[in-house]
Amino acid sequence: MREDCLAFFGLRRDPFGKQVAADALWLDPSRTAAIDQLIDAVRSRRHALVCGDSGVGKSCVMRAMKGRLPETGFRVVYVPNVTVGRRDFYRQLSLALGLEPRGTVAAVFEAIQREVRSSWSEHRLHPVLVLDEAHLMPDVLLSHLHVLANFDMDSNPLLSLVLMGLPELHDRLKLGVHRSLLTRLSIKVDIGRTTPSDTTAYVRARLESAGSAADVFASDGVSTLHELAAGVPRMIDTVAAIAMQLAAEQGERLVGRATVRRAWQQTPFA
Ligand SMILES: Nc1ncnc2c1ncn2[C@@H]1O[C@H](COP(=O)(O)OP(=O)(O)OP(=O)(O)O)[C@@H](O)[C@H]1O
Ligand SMILES: [Mg+2]
Repeated sequence: MREDCLAFFGLRRDPFGKQVAADALWLDPSRTAAIDQLIDAVRSRRHALVCGDSGVGKSCVMRAMKGRLPETGFRVVYVPNVTVGRRDFYRQLSLALGLEPRGTVAAVFEAIQREVRSSWSEHRLHPVLVLDEAHLMPDVLLSHLHVLANFDMDSNPLLSLVLMGLPELHDRLKLGVHRSLLTRLSIKVDIGRTTPSDTTAYVRARLESAGSAADVFASDGVSTLHELAAGVPRMIDTVAAIAMQLAAEQGERLVGRATVRRAWQQTPFA
């Protein structure tokens, strides 16, 4: 968002930027409940599945969950790219665990297993392996994940897997070939689109965290934003930012329906 627009609305920073600090995330009761369920699952060393459409806020929920897990008991590990084969996946996982990925796949796998065991026995740290965009995982990798899910000690999993992805991830897991992984996951959390009142609260929360003291959108402006963006926060962000820019250019203090519609026409979603 341009400086002139921020100044016009009296904001300290871009209210709809992608970088949302973990403590500035908007958490409605359903997201808070999802985070509680995920925390329960990893505390009891279980595996979880998180599904939702693109842009609804799955990765944000994961960041909020990470922020709430005590650092002394958990080690949250992200594998940055899950679109690779088994060898590269285990290389990335070893690097994320601070290991030198050397030797054959079997040797790397062995080293990961050792590290995960000592993480628990020496430091009482339970690794939580977050696989974001897991719907993009090739079958060969997905079908191998149950081996990681199966690492155990006294029949307690040594790590928790959190698989996140689009709804088709669940459809894929239900296919015969992936049933052994599916049966090892203990909960499924759905992150949904926002309701009209959620959208109002979301927009207000994002504006407030950027320093807004007054309403920026008129009520017909927010309801139009909700309808057009279909309750998808990433789309709400895009449309809201353009609408504010247009409003600032025409000196409109409360962004209304017509301006939101014009903004929508400028997006690739129209
Ligand atoms: N709880 C939230 N608080 C603040 N902003 C949010 C929240 N949820 C979503 N957003 C906004 O929406 C954008 C998209 O959210 P996020 O990246 O978490 O979606 P996603 O479900 O992981 O999408 P994808 O499936 O495409 O990865 C974020 O960059 C952020 O700007
Ligand atoms: Mg994401």
